[in-house]
Amino acid sequence: MNPKYRKTVIAGNWKMNMLNSQVKPFAEELKGIVNKPKWCDVVVCVPYIMAPAAMKAFKDCRVEVGVQNLNENEKGAFTGEVSASMLADLGVKYVIIGHSERRQYYGETDISVNKKVHAAINAGLTPIVCVGESLEQRELGVTLELIDYQVKTALAGVPAEKMRKVIIAYEPIWAIGTGKTATAEQANEVCAEIRAVIRKLYGARIARAVTIQYGGSMNDGNAAELLAQPDIDGGLIGGASLVATKFAGIINAANKE
Ligand code: 13P
Repeated sequence: MNPKYRKTVIAGNWKMNMLNSQVKPFAEELKGIVNKPKWCDVVVCVPYIMAPAAMKAFKDCRVEVGVQNLNENEKGAFTGEVSASMLADLGVKYVIIGHSERRQYYGETDISVNKKVHAAINAGLTPIVCVGESLEQRELGVTLELIDYQVKTALAGVPAEKMRKVIIAYEPIWAIGTGKTATAEQANEVCAEIRAVIRKLYGARIARAVTIQYGGSMNDGNAAELLAQPDIDGGLIGGASLVATKFAGIINAANKE
């Protein structure tokens, strides 16, 4: 973390878990145990249908609501889809884009990720853009090249003045939901690479200000070590964000001076 230059953002990704009826009890429990987040922003990314309940439940505390996907088109005949302006109109602030589960199960590509990034920023949403390598790619030694390509493609055409709105999340696929966390050094190496790519594209000042998260089996036990790394500015948390005590532990680790 480097709160002098950029925001630390702790974001939960509930994926397809939780029920609408569980949102309020979760929020009440979290509010009871989390220290007032001073250094970090906190986001909970919920399934679309839970966004209104989540905004109501978190209204009186500093937790913002995000969702986990959007459609790249502005509007039209796209049955079953949700646009960026619908989300912004509802009061949603963040959207996860290009999560590896969407790339793997729903055919999302680096090109569609780029279109979704544009849709999000045009509507005033903050995209949390996910990049990350598979175990095979890591073992082949192509992680950094792959990450360069994913970041460059995701950000193609994004003007410098919009970069303040963009968060990148490094999520190694092999660490998601597996209990295998990247070591703090491995995670920081890739987050530093992402910052170097942004520096090449946008210059040092913008690169220094962009929030880069780590995601992949982050929990209340390993968060402090990961967040102590200079280029890891927060976390994108799956499993541990479903349990208020664990999520609070991560927030409190980010909140330490
Ligand atoms: P886990 O924290 O369950 O490994 O999930 C990480 C993730 O995919 C967050 O988007």
